[in-house]
Amino acid sequence: MTPKIKSIDCHKLVNSRGDWTIETHVELTDGSVGVQAIPDGASKGQNEAISIEPEKAVDIVSTVINDALKGEDPFEQDVLDEVLISMDGTPNKSHLGGNSILSVSLAIAEASAMSKEMELYEYLSVLYTGKKKMRHEVRFPTPVFNILNGGKHAHNGLSFQEFMVIPSPKKNFVEAMEMGVDVYHQLKKNLTADNYDIDVGDEGGFAPNGLTVGKALTYIKSAASEKFKPGEDVFFGMDVAAESFYKHGKYCVDEEELKNDNVEMGLYYSNLIKKFELIYIEDPFYEKDIEGWGQFFKKEGKKLMIVGDDLVVTNTKFLSMAISQSLINAVIVKPNQIGTLTETLRFIKMAKENNLATIISHRSGDTAEDTFIADLALAVDADFIKSGAPVRGERVAKYNRLLEIYFKD
Ligand code: PGA
Ligand code: ZN
Repeated sequence: MTPKIKSIDCHKLVNSRGDWTIETHVELTDGSVGVQAIPDGASKGQNEAISIEPEKAVDIVSTVINDALKGEDPFEQDVLDEVLISMDGTPNKSHLGGNSILSVSLAIAEASAMSKEMELYEYLSVLYTGKKKMRHEVRFPTPVFNILNGGKHAHNGLSFQEFMVIPSPKKNFVEAMEMGVDVYHQLKKNLTADNYDIDVGDEGGFAPNGLTVGKALTYIKSAASEKFKPGEDVFFGMDVAAESFYKHGKYCVDEEELKNDNVEMGLYYSNLIKKFELIYIEDPFYEKDIEGWGQFFKKEGKKLMIVGDDLVVTNTKFLSMAISQSLINAVIVKPNQIGTLTETLRFIKMAKENNLATIISHRSGDTAEDTFIADLALAVDADFIKSGAPVRGERVAKYNRLLEIYFKD
């Protein structure tokens, strides 16, 4: 007999930033269980699904949503997600809360995977393509390591949010992880030798005071160059998160004494791209500065990945706009920006149909209990995964889930 949803429960718990969030348990009548905690961003796009107060979310999940979905078929993921979307009735899920809805949506998929005795990525591949992906068909994403932090994740006077080391996609997943760990340790050594502090930011990257953008890139490049060849086996990237220093129509990079308009900012990036083997730049412009995005993509779009995060917020509506106006060639995927699994999978499909690279991402406030994005990345053949530096429990949990699957063949 097909199992049904037996109960949906929720409680609050603390995330890696010391903020309260929620975790939902979905139990099926055959005893299968799905458990899902919800992450939280610090530099959010304006059009993201709204997270409501954890206590309110706990109440909504355990009462209203539990009552609505109890007795339903858990394998009808898209039907159940549509029920949640229409019960909410708002464009940004502000009524029931993106956090409440997503926790239920993902926990249902996990309970279903358990019920079918599948690994989560196998079940998600069924939802995505209609076909179960076998272990030998799995393609591992390239990890993108955020090893130097600034912006809203560090408050250290460095305007750009993330400075990243990216192994060549030719490396296998273990080689790529080894490289991330190696470069991280080398960077620690180099910063210490120059008397910078080695405290870390929200995503585990170092967050010393007194760096400029140019110096930060120089440090990560020289740490990587100890053992690897920039431009050959190792590359670099940045998540600028430009919204955080966009003031009154200008990009104010205080540590570089810059007050740039979007043309000047584009030129500034072009120089960095040449100098530092950058293959990846995320949110280089404020999400409403469509002109800035457009002219930059026209100039540099063939040279590197221009990645939309706050610009598209895992939402097909904003993605179609970005595609039709030629603004990006890669996207960040964060399930909690949109609020259901079905919409997340639809977004990934649209990105891939339009030949955009896909990067599945954690949030700066995350939990070690949640490794969903690792399985999601495998299920959809994502090109990259962003889970911060190779340190801190909540960051390595995602990498370690991938290693677990990698070594299990
Ligand atoms: P957030 O940052 O999780 O704080 O929004 C991550 C990002 O901008 O990629
Ligand atoms: Zn981002």
